[in-house]
Amino acid sequence: MLGSAPAQAQAQQTVKIGLILPMTGPFAGAIGRQIEAAAKLYIAQNGASVAGKTIELIVKDDTGTPDVTRRIAQELLVNDKVSFLAGFGLTPLAFAVAPLATQSKTPQIVMAAGTSSITEQSPFIVRTSFTLPQVTIGIADWASKNGIKKAMTLVADYGPGLDAEKSFKERLTAAGGEITGEIRIPLRNPDFSPFLQRVTDAKPDALFVFVPSGLGVQFMKQFVERGLDKSGIRLIATGDVTDDESLDSMGDVTLGLVTTHHYSAAHPSPENKAFVEAFRKAANVRPNFMAVGGWDGMHLIYEALKKTNGDTDGTKLVEAMKGMSWISPRGPISIDPKTRDIIQNVYVRKVEKVNGELYNVEFSTFEAVPDPVKAAK
Ligand code: PHB
Repeated sequence: MLGSAPAQAQAQQTVKIGLILPMTGPFAGAIGRQIEAAAKLYIAQNGASVAGKTIELIVKDDTGTPDVTRRIAQELLVNDKVSFLAGFGLTPLAFAVAPLATQSKTPQIVMAAGTSSITEQSPFIVRTSFTLPQVTIGIADWASKNGIKKAMTLVADYGPGLDAEKSFKERLTAAGGEITGEIRIPLRNPDFSPFLQRVTDAKPDALFVFVPSGLGVQFMKQFVERGLDKSGIRLIATGDVTDDESLDSMGDVTLGLVTTHHYSAAHPSPENKAFVEAFRKAANVRPNFMAVGGWDGMHLIYEALKKTNGDTDGTKLVEAMKGMSWISPRGPISIDPKTRDIIQNVYVRKVEKVNGELYNVEFSTFEAVPDPVKAAK
C-alpha cells in the first residue's frame, strides 16, 4: 500500500491530451501529419510541464471515419482519462465527438475542421482553426471589386463546402454579382473532369472553388487537363486549394492565383519565421494552415492550464479559454468569449515564386474577422 502511494501521486500529476487525427487515408499528409508535427513541436519548444503538471500527448488515428473517431474518443475518456480531446481533421469527425464532450464535460479543441456550426454542437468545443464563411467572404469581396460579375461555384459536397458556397453566393450577389451555376462534388474519390466541362461551356467570369486541404493537387491537375487555365475563366478559391503542404508541387499553373485564408507559410512576421524554420527542421515539410491550427490549439491548452493553476475541471478550462488572445504564427488571434470560435485576420494572397518556390504571398488584410454566420445571429 505504502509503495503505491507515490505512484498514484505521480499519476495525478499527469495531464493527458487525446489527439485524434486522420493518420492514414487521403487526409493523412495534409491534415494528420501536419497537426501531429505541430503539436509535438509545441511541446518540444515549450516543455512538457505546465502549472506543475506533466503533459502527455496521446495520438490516435481515426482514418477519417466518424464512427472510429467516436469510439477512440470514448476509449480516451474512459480508459486513459484524458483532460482534453483535440484534433478533428474533418467536420463529420468533430460532430461525432461533440455529444461525448458535453456528457463528460471535457474540452474538445477543434484544430482543423471548418464548418461554422461545429462550435454550436457542444459548449465544450473551442476552435483554433477557422470557419469557411470567415475566409470566403473576403474572396467574394475581392471578386466583386475586381470586375467579376458572373461566377460559378464548385465545392466539396459536405459541411465546409456548403458553407463556402452559401457565403460566396450571399456576398457576391449582395454586391450585384450573379451565380450562374453551383457544382457540388463528392468528398471521397472526387473526379472533377465532367464538372469542369460544364464550367467551360457556361463561360462565367470566374470559378470559385473550395476543396479540403489535400484535394487541391488533383483539382489543379484536372483544371489544366481540361484546358481551363487557357479559357479566360478566372480561378479564385479559399486557401485550402493552395495549401502550403502541396502548393509547390502544383506547378507554375498556379502563379497569380488569388485566394483568401488565415495562414500562409510566407506570412511576414518574426513569429512565423521562427515557426516555419523550426517546423521544417522537425517535419521536413513546409507547415500549412492545419499545422498552425494544431500549434495554436496546444497554446490554448497550455495557457488555460496556467490560468486554472493546473485544475483540469473541464468547465473551468473552457471558461479560461474564453476571450484569450495571443500572437500566432498567422498573426493576432483570439477566442470569441460568446461563441468559443476563433477571431483572426483573413489575408488576400496571390501565388508567387519566392526563392524558387511557390508561395501564397499576402497583399491585403481583413482584420480581426469573427465567424460571420454566428456574428449575424
Ligand atoms: C472540414 O472538414 O471541416 C475541412 C477539412 C479541410 C479543410 C477545410 C475544412 O481544408
